[in-house]
Amino acid sequence: MLHTRTLAVAAASPLLVESILSSWLLRVPGSHVASNRSIGDRALNRGEISREDMLESYQKIREKYKSKKLPQDVNPKGVFACNELDLKEVQVYGFDYDYTLACYKPSMDYLLYNLGRDMLIQKYKYPEGIGNLEYKKDFAVRGLHYDIEKGLLLKLDSFLQIQFGTVYRGLHPVPDDEVLRLYKNRIIPIAYVEAPNKHSHKDGPHRTKMVQLADLFSVPEMGLLCNVTEYFLRNHIDYHPEILFRDVKNSVQSCHPIMHGMVVQNVSEYLEQNQDLKRFFDRLKKANKKMFLVTNSPFHFVDIGMKFLVGDDWKDYFDVVIVQARKPKFFTEESRPLRIYDEVNKTQLWDRVTKLDKGAIYLEGTVKQLQDMTGWRGHQVLYFGDHPYSDLADVTLEHGWRTGAIIKELTHEISTLNNPKFKENANWLQMLTGLIEEHQDYEGPDVQTVLDEWIKERDKLRNEIKRVFNEQFGSVFRTYHNPTYFSRRLFRFADIYMSTITNLLEYSTHHTFYPRRGVMPHEYTSYFV
Ligand SMILES: *[C@@H]1O[C@H](CO)[C@@H](O)[C@H](O)[C@H]1NC(C)=O
Ligand SMILES: *[C@@H]1O[C@H](CO)[C@@H](O)[C@H](O)[C@H]1NC(C)=O
Ligand SMILES: *[C@@H]1O[C@H](CO)[C@@H](O)[C@H](O)[C@H]1NC(C)=O
Ligand SMILES: *[C@@H]1O[C@H](CO)[C@@H](O)[C@H](O)[C@H]1NC(C)=O
Ligand SMILES: [Mg+2]
Repeated sequence: MLHTRTLAVAAASPLLVESILSSWLLRVPGSHVASNRSIGDRALNRGEISREDMLESYQKIREKYKSKKLPQDVNPKGVFACNELDLKEVQVYGFDYDYTLACYKPSMDYLLYNLGRDMLIQKYKYPEGIGNLEYKKDFAVRGLHYDIEKGLLLKLDSFLQIQFGTVYRGLHPVPDDEVLRLYKNRIIPIAYVEAPNKHSHKDGPHRTKMVQLADLFSVPEMGLLCNVTEYFLRNHIDYHPEILFRDVKNSVQSCHPIMHGMVVQNVSEYLEQNQDLKRFFDRLKKANKKMFLVTNSPFHFVDIGMKFLVGDDWKDYFDVVIVQARKPKFFTEESRPLRIYDEVNKTQLWDRVTKLDKGAIYLEGTVKQLQDMTGWRGHQVLYFGDHPYSDLADVTLEHGWRTGAIIKELTHEISTLNNPKFKENANWLQMLTGLIEEHQDYEGPDVQTVLDEWIKERDKLRNEIKRVFNEQFGSVFRTYHNPTYFSRRLFRFADIYMSTITNLLEYSTHHTFYPRRGVMPHEYTSYFV
């Protein structure tokens, strides 16, 4: 039963399967057998099977697998569609700044980790000993949940199921039986994770017990959180997970102004150069598109970065520039005045803003003012951000803007998908699963033994496939067979997504992105037979 269900679920996420892995993964060999299992106890109809016959089936499938052609590579510069999007309809391109236009080098993670760690010692009086904890790259991935009561970092899928093997206390995985004991179930109740009627991850008046870390800046935060937890556990220091979480979060976030100052002094040390960005902007201008920037970062920081990326004349490209916007509030609040920032005197002015001038810099405000003063509305606006909730959720749900997500992790995920060894493993995993599904209802003295061997092989393979993405947490987009909580949200709020903004240079400004026709559980196993 378990396997039937897992397959059905795999097929239930066509969007993900279709866009991340190719459709060949869905093809289940021999699944036609299932058509004669409808009435009564299915097992009764299947009859007996010997060990030899089972092993022969295995060999046959194995041969078929070896003769299979591997799927084509996924284009790392691709733009992937969740929803149909016709760029001809888009007149206005809006951008977030951090991790959307500006991509940071790993040195940024080290910087935030170190600043946050030192702040914990200086301001929050944490033990001096944590000063020796160095940052390790690639420990956590974005989109994980932190249980503030139990002090665990874990990965959830779109059904709010815990992915076993991805629950961490400090730097150590929590064994599955302990996870089950702690949560009583592998599915987490929704109230535990989401506040009612809230798509935002912010803990509003109704506080949830889990917070999701969906921001790229929160990756070093998670590393620090886990390493300090580990330090406390090792040194038998009693701590409160919620207090620790808030302290780590606050100290890393309070370091952002310091970080801004350091980046301004040494921009090439932290910012990834992208020669294509200017070319991309030029192309948009040539096609008469309007452009705007809405960022939470302060002006001096954005200015230095944009000069580095695009040149001193970067502001000429933009029709409206709004800094310190405090998204998601910028998108959700009704009234909050827009202010003018005086670049020369580095202060904000008190004048009432009644129109938006090109070349001026604005602070705060709301999306309503932006829409009213520009007349830009609905589907003519395409806004790009890296944060599925604070950048993309409200503009999609409330304002009908079109949205593009910049997901840096795609670079690593796609290069993993394109590795021939990975393709083979993923292919074999799917075929082996089919084999198990096909044989589970037979009877015979050896059936269970052979099935157990197959299941063991399958489990091993699944872990291998998970680990190549990230040793601890696997892929940002998938649990073993489901989309993650993160990807479900991403696919809901983004019309298109890509690894970097300049991937759009691969397409014209009148291109239409069509989502692939996915396969639903009740449909053919694949459209490409
Ligand atoms: C279903 O199985 C029964 C019993 O094995 C067999 O007699 C029958 O022909 C099968 N029907 C189909 C449609 O394969
Ligand atoms: C935690 O600190 C130790 C000691 O410096 C280091 O070896 C380890 O990689 C760190 N882990 C993380 C997740 O940063
Ligand atoms: C800039 O970064 C380099 C390399 O890390 C470092 O040696 C230098 O001191 C930094 N300069 C400033 C002004 O921070
Ligand atoms: C900046 O401040 C000086 C002195 O207070 C003032 O004369 C000048 O007009 C200000 N500049 C702008 C652009 O407001
Ligand atoms: Mg951002």
